[in-house]
Amino acid sequence: PLVYLNGAWSPLSEAKISVLDRGFIFGDGIYEVVPVYHRKPFRMSHHLARLERSLGALRIRNPHTLVEWEDLVRQLIDSSPADDQFVYLQVTRGVAKRDHAFPTNDVTPTVFGMTSPFTRPDARQRDHGVSVVSMPDERWLHCEIKSTSLLGNVLAKQYAVDHQAQEVVMFRDGFLSEGSSSNIWVVKDGAIIAPLKNHLILEGIRYGFIEGLAAARGLPIEIRPVTEAEVQAADELMLSSATKEILPIVSYNGQPVGAGKPGPVYARLRKEYDEAIA
Ligand code: PDD
Repeated sequence: PLVYLNGAWSPLSEAKISVLDRGFIFGDGIYEVVPVYHRKPFRMSHHLARLERSLGALRIRNPHTLVEWEDLVRQLIDSSPADDQFVYLQVTRGVAKRDHAFPTNDVTPTVFGMTSPFTRPDARQRDHGVSVVSMPDERWLHCEIKSTSLLGNVLAKQYAVDHQAQEVVMFRDGFLSEGSSSNIWVVKDGAIIAPLKNHLILEGIRYGFIEGLAAARGLPIEIRPVTEAEVQAADELMLSSATKEILPIVSYNGQPVGAGKPGPVYARLRKEYDEAIA
């Protein structure tokens, strides 16, 4: 597959950016990860809408129209032989002399796109679940922006790795926020419970999928602040992201979640997701 950088296509190893790119210097940029199944992007319009929102939050002008973005994603997919892929898009504020403030001249945003073969979560993870550990959410207060400034998320994911877990579950002031790179779901007495969509979490495209599904199928769902005690006492826990899809969490801080195996609400969501991407 070829990668896209500022209007040009090249092999990945030949794509080069300036060391003064504000993405490199300041993490001053945003990104998206769009999953592709059977060569078709899943929920692309939602991803592109979020990309637009992230750019708006950083006051970076969107360098492309919706149609141009769709074309770019299509060309990336076409450049790869893989059926299932994930397309990575990144936009930074561009190249400028190092100064924290936005450049005053009209710099051109840097646009980068690549696609990778998508190795979907394997049967072991889907059928037997993953383990998580909890930690305080030490990130900043604009987690709704899908920013490439990911140091807090990087340290959180490493905390999971260091504790032989696949993901963290983070809490801010005693309330559930999210994982390092996923949204977290609680199930209690048959109800799906998720934290509010505010500046403390990234509103995942799978978050929207699950919320919409619950509405369409009449599944009980509560979107509200979730305490640490509720997470500990959950019947089921799940995580969701573009790359992990929806996975059951069977171990929380070394303790079994509910029955210690994937539960019925997970099974339902898994089936619905598999059908949606088929
Ligand atoms: N991460 N929360 C955070 C902090 C995330 O980074 C992600 C996704 C999500 C889930 O969003 P979605 O359902 O749209 O993937 C929630 C991507 C996959 C990543 O950074 O690679």
